[in-house]
Amino acid sequence: MKVAPTIEELRTNLKSHHADNQLIGFVPTMGALHEGHLALVDKAKESSDTTVVSIFINPLQFNNAQDFSTYPQTLESDLELLEKRGVDVVFLPSKEELYPMQPSLSINFGPLERTLEGEFRPGHFSGVGIIVSKLLNIVKPHVAYFGQKDLQQVAVIQTLVRDLSIDVKIQVVPTVRESDGLAMSSRNLRLTTQERKAARLLYQVLNFCKIELLAGRDWLTTRQEALQMIRHESLASMEYLELVSTYSLQKQEKFEPEQALSLVIACFIGEVRLIDNLPVNL
Ligand code: PAJ
Repeated sequence: MKVAPTIEELRTNLKSHHADNQLIGFVPTMGALHEGHLALVDKAKESSDTTVVSIFINPLQFNNAQDFSTYPQTLESDLELLEKRGVDVVFLPSKEELYPMQPSLSINFGPLERTLEGEFRPGHFSGVGIIVSKLLNIVKPHVAYFGQKDLQQVAVIQTLVRDLSIDVKIQVVPTVRESDGLAMSSRNLRLTTQERKAARLLYQVLNFCKIELLAGRDWLTTRQEALQMIRHESLASMEYLELVSTYSLQKQEKFEPEQALSLVIACFIGEVRLIDNLPVNL
């Protein structure tokens, strides 16, 4: 496994792979890798000749300085995991390498910008859009893999690729969960033992809502009952719980079984902000 710390080394490493028309699969990450990330890597390995993974904690997408400074870093074990999974090239740039100067560009994703993560984390998606554009320009993969765990991020990246005609296929991989249902996330490492137990609540709430909706209950009543469940957990503080269109992420007031709808939640458990989602029907 090659580790490339600069754009030039990465490009040199991939030159022959591009020249041989090899299919390049790419998994962008911010490290602190877990089985969720590795599911993306396995998917990429399955269908590519060459698999590239990037590890870069992108300062531009953090709207909260504390979240950035406490973001978990486990580089040594990340590299071991990637080596074991048979990754060919790891792109491991420094902040100076990717941002020699503060970018003056910002990206507005329109309606996606004004809802859910866009609303609660101003500037976050612009930062995601800039880094993903940069990484796709540097690696030039045929296929890039993203997790359904970050449903709105997937919509943002699909918008980016479509609006800028970027020549890449976006492959979405289902959410990988712990045995109690908690979606795997690098931020879970920051939970205390007690908070880790309380964090099960997110998936429990999503499942409760899904079962109620599929049983024909109306969304507004179901939502009220779910909010009550969250209020009962003293470590939890909710940001949003919504029923949304799976593709546009726009909020819905009614459950329409023939539309692709998902439940989305963002909730603080102690100091740690967690997000999750669950498709309801399709
Ligand atoms: P990060 O949070 O490290 O996630 C990297 C990729 O792993 C994302 O596509 C994310 O959706 C996916 N992922 C995380 N947890 C997952 C889980 N439990 N199951 C399946 N997939 C999961 O998302 C980012 O980094 C950044 O925003 C990035 C795209 C790298 C841009 O900086």
